[in-house]
Amino acid sequence: MHGFEAHPAVRVSGSMVVPGDKSISHRALMLSGIAEGISDIDGFLASEDCLASLAAMRALGVRIERPSPTRILIHGVGLHGLRGAGRPLDMGNAGTAMRLFTGLLSAQAFDSQLIGDASLMKRPMERVAKPLREMGADVRTHHGTPPVDIGGARHLHGIDYQMPVASAQVKSAILLASLYGEGTTSVTAPGVSRDHSERMLKSCGVRVLSEGLRTTLYPPQCLIAQTLTVPGDFSSAAFFVVAGLLAGASEGLLIRNVGLNPTRTGLLDILRSMGGKIEVLNPRESGAEPLADLLVRHSSLKGVRVSQDLISLAIDELPVLFIAAACAEGETWVTGAEELRVKESDRIAAMSSGLTALSVAHEPLPDGMRIEGRGEGNAFSGGHVDSFGDHRIAMSFAIASLRAAAPITIKDVANVATSFPGFVSLAHSVGLAIRDTAW
Ligand code: S3P
Repeated sequence: MHGFEAHPAVRVSGSMVVPGDKSISHRALMLSGIAEGISDIDGFLASEDCLASLAAMRALGVRIERPSPTRILIHGVGLHGLRGAGRPLDMGNAGTAMRLFTGLLSAQAFDSQLIGDASLMKRPMERVAKPLREMGADVRTHHGTPPVDIGGARHLHGIDYQMPVASAQVKSAILLASLYGEGTTSVTAPGVSRDHSERMLKSCGVRVLSEGLRTTLYPPQCLIAQTLTVPGDFSSAAFFVVAGLLAGASEGLLIRNVGLNPTRTGLLDILRSMGGKIEVLNPRESGAEPLADLLVRHSSLKGVRVSQDLISLAIDELPVLFIAAACAEGETWVTGAEELRVKESDRIAAMSSGLTALSVAHEPLPDGMRIEGRGEGNAFSGGHVDSFGDHRIAMSFAIASLRAAAPITIKDVANVATSFPGFVSLAHSVGLAIRDTAW
């Protein structure tokens, strides 16, 4: 099995660029594939998750050229130009791909089946199947989990849906299906979730209205092809933001071209409330998305109670926040984050297991975690940690090595390639001492 050996390092410094945004890359493939004309997408994330979406779009009849690993030219087939793959579409580890494709494919003239790896086959799919069935779609799950079977040639109609969870994947699946529905569709969420779909749909000429937590889509005649540079993934930058706070050199660590969509950046607010010194430099736009450079300096952090309204804006970054919290003075409380239980792993259980292995006093909660921070100095003992095959757990514990008394070995890290190709070499370039090992 593939593992990491992360050795304590003194400081991180320099300048870096993280790979493209995963959420935007998935959406760019799907929306460009059903647009009219050729879309030119630069900064595409060539990770396993996004390559699963790319392969699926090709299997559905979309021609996609790759002049370089991170640039793709997508020859859109129009709203009604997809054709059946004739075989199950394998989404690998990608929950976003499976949920968004469920929406897109529920409106097509042909049948489809979606499958995934062992982790994805256990994840909840009824949350998308239910509203799609309300729209008239034929979507079947296996006791709530994949395989997802989708019957084609259904006539979809618009709905007014009240989402029980603040999920961008559910919202996006409904919006994709509603492109084909008769009448408008509205989705109302209980909290803010990432709005990349809405932004990109608007760029493609679709009328989408966002009023507070309610999003309404008016079915278009067609989608316009797009030219887009995908910003760096904030969720990938997050590991290095925390690295810079825990061990930044005096001149700081500069992370360039980071997507700063406000529906994604809850971690910045949380870390700043803990005393984190993070400067946003050179703010600009790339297409419909804001981006900037982040300069992060070593900071003495203090524990906080994380405000509920920041949870859905930081959901993917909570594992690495737990690492920062272990290095803060005093207690940090995260609650209202029960969604962590149904990510690529049960992230509360996985983080608790690793924190225990590294001698961090903490208490896993049904919907979060209480962590007793150690303050300045080493917060982690060193030891063996299991990532449970979850990329964000693996990378979070790699960052913990910056404040560990002894090396941390991390088991089962192959899934880092699902979101962050080149993580180890990039980490090396700014001073972390992480090695790939056979476990
Ligand atoms: C994503 C939405 C989030 C997030 C996931 C990516 C997306 O999931 O955790 O990594 O691209 O829409 P939920 O929608 O389930 O919160």
